[in-house]
Amino acid sequence: MQQVVLHDRTFRLYLKESQIQQAVKAIAAQINNDYIGKSPLLVPILNGSFMFAADLMKQLQCDCQLSFIKVASYQGTETAGVVSSLIGLSENIEGRHVIILEDIVDSGHTLAKVIPLFSSSNPASMRVATLLHKPNAAKVPVQVDYVGLEIPNDFIVGYGLDYNGYGRNLKDIYVVEN
Ligand code: IMP
Ligand code: MG
Repeated sequence: MQQVVLHDRTFRLYLKESQIQQAVKAIAAQINNDYIGKSPLLVPILNGSFMFAADLMKQLQCDCQLSFIKVASYQGTETAGVVSSLIGLSENIEGRHVIILEDIVDSGHTLAKVIPLFSSSNPASMRVATLLHKPNAAKVPVQVDYVGLEIPNDFIVGYGLDYNGYGRNLKDIYVVEN
């Protein structure tokens, strides 16, 4: 599909499934190299990162575990900039090698809020892996350790990312038509 209509907007093909999978594999290769002999805990931030988490985990060779968390920070086509809550972290992360997984880092507000919540529980280490990064959208500085692809400051959907809840099921990634 070259174009999709979701809710009230039209989106055009931007990143094909093969390009996405290549980016996922590149991140996995770095993690495989960096975590030899370690047993990291992957912590994907729902909802957007579920597909990335699933595909990434299939490529990991180390013993790894998974615990999804959820924050609410985003609606429509602009980041609200407010993160209200963090749900779901049941594991004791003290002494663990934590890798937070994001679908996309946009303003940085989500990670800026989430990272301190983890650091206060004394993990052995903490890194962030994101499939996509919009460096020009940064409003607060956050350290991102593994980046799949850097993209311009445009609104995208697909591969877990949504527009008003729609489009997460798309295998490819699409960008909004202006
Ligand atoms: P941030 O807090 O502004 O960095 O944004 C983080 C979250 O906003 C991401 O995890 C996504 O769920 C969502 N988001 C940011 N940019 C986009 C986009 O272009 N399309 C869909 N969701 C987005
Ligand atoms: Mg997200």
